[in-house]
Amino acid sequence: MSRVALVTGGTRGIGKAISLHLKEHGYTVIANYSSNNDAAVAFHKKHGIPVYQFDVSDFSACQKAVKQITSDYGHIDILVNNAGITRDSTLHNMTEENWHAVLDTNLSSCFNLCRCVIDGMREREFGRIVNIGSINGQAGQYGQVNYAAAKSGIHGFTKALAQEGAGKGITVNAIAPGYIATDMVRAVPEKVLEKIIAKIPVGRLGDAEDIARGVGFLVADEAGFITGSTLSINGGQHMY
Ligand code: CAA
Repeated sequence: MSRVALVTGGTRGIGKAISLHLKEHGYTVIANYSSNNDAAVAFHKKHGIPVYQFDVSDFSACQKAVKQITSDYGHIDILVNNAGITRDSTLHNMTEENWHAVLDTNLSSCFNLCRCVIDGMREREFGRIVNIGSINGQAGQYGQVNYAAAKSGIHGFTKALAQEGAGKGITVNAIAPGYIATDMVRAVPEKVLEKIIAKIPVGRLGDAEDIARGVGFLVADEAGFITGSTLSINGGQHMY
């Protein structure tokens, strides 16, 4: 029986590439999404991957969804915490609402979903958790104190949970993507983005598939000795 993988934010952008890559490599994939119904329906129709709508920032919604998925598929072996949002502005312009929205969706979501799947993984003595961090959680970024704090938190969360899971066959790793050609990055003002690309040694944005291949590497059964790591995939922009 194939391993069951839940990918949050799995119908668009980097998450979509992760879902497709895992499916292609024989995993049973379940993709979560939050609000873009049209994209999710189109994704499901085209790729046959089941989609579950729930808000990853809402603990009880995550509990309900994990219960449902477990009843539909038996268990969850692999969790990819990919869902994330930006609400960029300088701190002096940032609203409290935009601080909490980014922390809740990008960081508390990791707690919410890990908390909901961890008991099952501990019982079965197998689990693969990959949290999608960011270069901007490693290096900081002008206009992103909320996002940088959340992503930086993901990296600490990953190392702590990796220590807890190690004796139970559960690995917990992070990927820190650089600037990847997705809608999120395309929303950065053109002039700002040009300056960012100029600082990427390989001279271009990354592809979502670059991240998906990294996830595939980390979730493999054979990757049991890799835990607590952060894989930076950023075209050489930040060597950490
Ligand atoms: N360094 C120095 N100055 C900068 C700057 C930088 N990196 N970026 C913008 N500025 C300057 C602007 O040129 C502008 O200057 P002037 O006022 O002299 O014209 C000023 O900052 C804007 O200041 P404001 O107080 O008006 O800023 P704001 O609150 O409106 O925010 C901004 C503007 C949101 C920061 C906008 O510049 C922006 O979107 N920057 C890009 C942020 C970014 O890189 N986001 C990453 C999104 S992708 C992602 O997050 C995925 C991932 O993991 C990599």
